[in-house]
Amino acid sequence: MKIISGKELSDKLKKNMAVETATFESHFGRLPKLAVILVGNDAGSVSYVTGKAKACAEVGILNETIRYEETISENELLQKIAELNADTTTDGILVQLPLPKHINEKTVISAIKQEKDVDGFHPLNTAALWSKTDCILPCTPKGIIKLLKSENIEIAGKNAVVIGRSNIVGLPVSKLLLDENATVTIAHSRTKNLAEVAANADILVVAIGRPKFVTAEMVKNGAVVIDVGVNRDLETGKLCGDVDFDAVAEKTSFITKVPGGIGPMTICCLIENTIECFLRKM
Ligand code: GUN
Repeated sequence: MKIISGKELSDKLKKNMAVETATFESHFGRLPKLAVILVGNDAGSVSYVTGKAKACAEVGILNETIRYEETISENELLQKIAELNADTTTDGILVQLPLPKHINEKTVISAIKQEKDVDGFHPLNTAALWSKTDCILPCTPKGIIKLLKSENIEIAGKNAVVIGRSNIVGLPVSKLLLDENATVTIAHSRTKNLAEVAANADILVVAIGRPKFVTAEMVKNGAVVIDVGVNRDLETGKLCGDVDFDAVAEKTSFITKVPGGIGPMTICCLIENTIECFLRKM
């Protein structure tokens, strides 16, 4: 069994990107800029946004974090997005999700210019992903594939089971695994015999947001297990994944941990996407 460290790989990739961005000022006359919008004070979201700003600094790109009260209207938010769309020095726009209930997430995401949508959540980017057209890839799915490839884990021909069908992780990672020629099953809360389905996986990706949901009997011997969950352990209050790591790890060939697994890869791919958006314009 090997624990795959997303932290280690992302540190390495960020260092390489920092070398690249060091030439930008003299080559292009400016640095890439990522604008991050955070609405409200949800502890998880605040922590993600802080992590994103820190990573921008590490890689040597600019970050503008814009914070609003929970009560901001959808119109005000859309106005800010329009302003950032028009600003030629802003290369990437990210609106941290989830948004308060009175704001329509689909309307907000669709308002971001496709070429500044560093999350890859805009319907046009989603359409491009599903039609195998060049596009900005969603960060977490992109990070998962990078991490698998960094360990030379074969994907082609393997049974990949994805638990979770969100627009952010489950659906796009399923498509990327399919593009790598895996046989993909998307399982979810309504799947019958979920344990049996999961136990058929050579590669198991778990993104359902339930602490320690995946137990040992749901994992095949020698499987690769990728844990995308970020939860609070109800007993200890510590951060934990969707996989019961202590029970599952010894059965696997490769497994990621929470924290230090997929989270850092997501942020790393966000920075990469911002640089990509910048370079596409230059
Ligand atoms: N909330 C949870 N994950 C993400 C993400 O990848 N991007 C955004 N914008 N919000 C999120």
